[in-house]
Amino acid sequence: MSYDSRFALLVLKTDIEPNMTKHFTSSACKFLLFIFVFALSHFTHAQDIPTEPAAISAGESLFNANCKACHRVSQKLVGPALAGVDERAPSIDWIIKFVKNSSAVIASGDDYAVKLYNEYNKTQMTSFSSFKEEDVMNILAYVKAEEAKAAAGPAPTAPGQAGQPTPDGGGNIAGNYLNIILIGMVIILILLLTILGFLVSALKRFLDQKELTEEDREVIHSPITTTSIFKSKGFIFIVVFLVSGLTFKAVIAALFSIGIQQGYAPKQPIAFSHKIHAGEYEIDCKYCHTGAMKGKNATIPSVNVCWNCHNQIREGTLTGQNEIAKIVKAYETNTPIEWVRIHNLPDLAYFNHAQHVNVGGQECQTCHGPVETMDVVRQHSLLTMGWCIDCHRKTDVNSKGNKYYDNLVELHNQAGDGAMKVEDIGGLECSKCHY
Ligand code: HEC
Ligand code: HEC
Ligand code: HEC
Ligand code: HEC
Ligand code: HEC
Ligand code: HEC
Repeated sequence: MSYDSRFALLVLKTDIEPNMTKHFTSSACKFLLFIFVFALSHFTHAQDIPTEPAAISAGESLFNANCKACHRVSQKLVGPALAGVDERAPSIDWIIKFVKNSSAVIASGDDYAVKLYNEYNKTQMTSFSSFKEEDVMNILAYVKAEEAKAAAGPAPTAPGQAGQPTPDGGGNIAGNYLNIILIGMVIILILLLTILGFLVSALKRFLDQKELTEEDREVIHSPITTTSIFKSKGFIFIVVFLVSGLTFKAVIAALFSIGIQQGYAPKQPIAFSHKIHAGEYEIDCKYCHTGAMKGKNATIPSVNVCWNCHNQIREGTLTGQNEIAKIVKAYETNTPIEWVRIHNLPDLAYFNHAQHVNVGGQECQTCHGPVETMDVVRQHSLLTMGWCIDCHRKTDVNSKGNKYYDNLVELHNQAGDGAMKVEDIGGLECSKCHY
């Protein structure tokens, strides 16, 4: 049933009036109206695609989250370009059925679907059985809006669109402090030297006014040569001071970095590039790392996920290496790809992705850095206890739309000490992170 007929039902449901004749005429009118709207809704089914901005933006987010991995509006990717699909497909109803369960439509022997399926190398499109009719209509609204935009000429690219702000992973705090200390020491040294210089010349002037032996006079006025500088106690003191300072810094830095693998970027068995997949082709992180919303581990995709697309795309044109052949081999011989693990907390600590990504609303990039720009993934953050705690002290709890937190937020607000941080819900308790 489309919107218009639903609207007609609503009209019929309005309240009953006391006067019978009035009631009769009004229901007759409503009945006629119902017939009219019902008929209209059938004739205008093809124009049903909504045009309101709200529908378009709802469609855009649905498209980006579910379809963008395989479809573009005006470019063929894994599946066909979606521009003009409402005109080329048999009907809007067909599109809705196909999106909800494409394999059922293909299995029913539908000519158009079978032809398309064969044309696309028998690539199975994902089923979106939980989608409502409205969701598909919103996606079509978005596709139509994008088509119209493309026809009106290329949109100017927003400056700095690609570069999202990427807060760094806590920074090397120990290193920063040590640098400040070292600079302070150098400044103090220079000050000491200047004061010493003044003292020496003042002393010389003072001694000149005294009665002195020839020998003493020579010592006072001996010229300053490089050898005399190198042999002088002051110089030796400065050198020893600097060398021990630098050694101290190096030792402290080494002690602080025990067990830290920030920047670790091992070579992987297949040269898989996040820059190509998540950057250039804008495939959603959660399309491959499906566990991030649901559980402790974000999970690494299996060969089958790669196969959804690489069944079709057998040649890489970007790096000039034939790495995709390895995927084909792994798929055909049914052997898993042995990816090298990069991020790894010690067993004593507990970290859960769903809690941070789904409940807490944290972006992957906050902790993992700009992965979509990396050809080879590297560990961006420190992953130390201090790093976890630091964020728990600073970050507000995301309580929007989460009924579980409603009472808690209210109590917290009554106490009146600012926004509720993770710290306030027990984010600093040892047992929350340690088994
Ligand atoms: C895993 C990749 C994949 C995803 C994700 C995907 N599709 Fe498809 N889609 C395809 C392929 C491949 C085809 C071609 C038909 C076939 O092989 O089944 C297709 C065909 C279609 C068609 C028919 C196109 C035509 O030219 O008639 C529509 C409409 C469509 N997809 C809509 C969607 C929508 C809407 C979404 C998101 C909710 C989506 N698809 C998500 C791969 C995908
Ligand atoms: C097409 C599938 C795909 C997409 C999309 C994708 N990844 Fe990955 N990701 C992988 C594979 C495969 C690996 C393992 C190989 C590697 O490390 O490069 C991986 C590894 C990682 C790792 C390192 C895991 C470890 O071993 O510690 C992180 C972190 C990561 N991805 C984050 C992201 C983020 C953030 C995004 C979105 C911006 C994203 N991924 C998008 C497939 C994908
Ligand atoms: C949603 C679709 C999709 C998925 C899923 C996908 N890829 Fe790709 N992949 C692409 C596209 C598009 C290209 C670019 C092809 C080109 O070079 O023109 C590509 C290119 C590649 C390349 C070649 C880069 C080059 O140019 O040399 C490799 C290697 C690769 N993918 C590995 C993987 C692996 C491993 C997985 C599974 C973890 C995977 N892909 C999953 C779409 C996908
Ligand atoms: C609050 C910080 C944080 C956020 C946000 C976050 N991660 Fe992680 N991620 C981690 C930590 C810490 C580890 C190491 C976990 C371990 O060793 O138990 C990790 C490990 C991983 C791994 C490898 C191991 C695994 O869990 O399968 C992948 C892949 C990954 N993250 C992907 C993602 C993706 C994709 C997102 C966004 C959807 C994301 N992460 C968001 C902190 C984060
Ligand atoms: C980028 C910020 C950030 C970082 C880094 C971070 N967390 Fe969190 N963490 C959060 C947020 C936000 C929540 C609140 C989620 C919620 O609403 O339940 C949270 C909640 C938690 C909770 C549940 C606390 C409770 O009382 O319910 C645990 C356990 C936890 N984090 C462990 C870790 C560990 C372990 C690390 C480091 C490996 C870490 N977190 C790093 C932001 C972060
Ligand atoms: C937000 C999460 C979180 C909380 C709260 C937390 N820790 Fe930790 N802790 C970690 C992580 C993650 C590591 C591992 C750090 C690493 O590998 O460098 C760790 C490491 C440690 C270690 C070092 C073990 C080693 O191998 O060196 C000790 C000891 C420790 N924690 C004790 C505590 C105590 C005591 C408390 C309570 C006052 C506490 N932790 C609270 C996350 C947390």
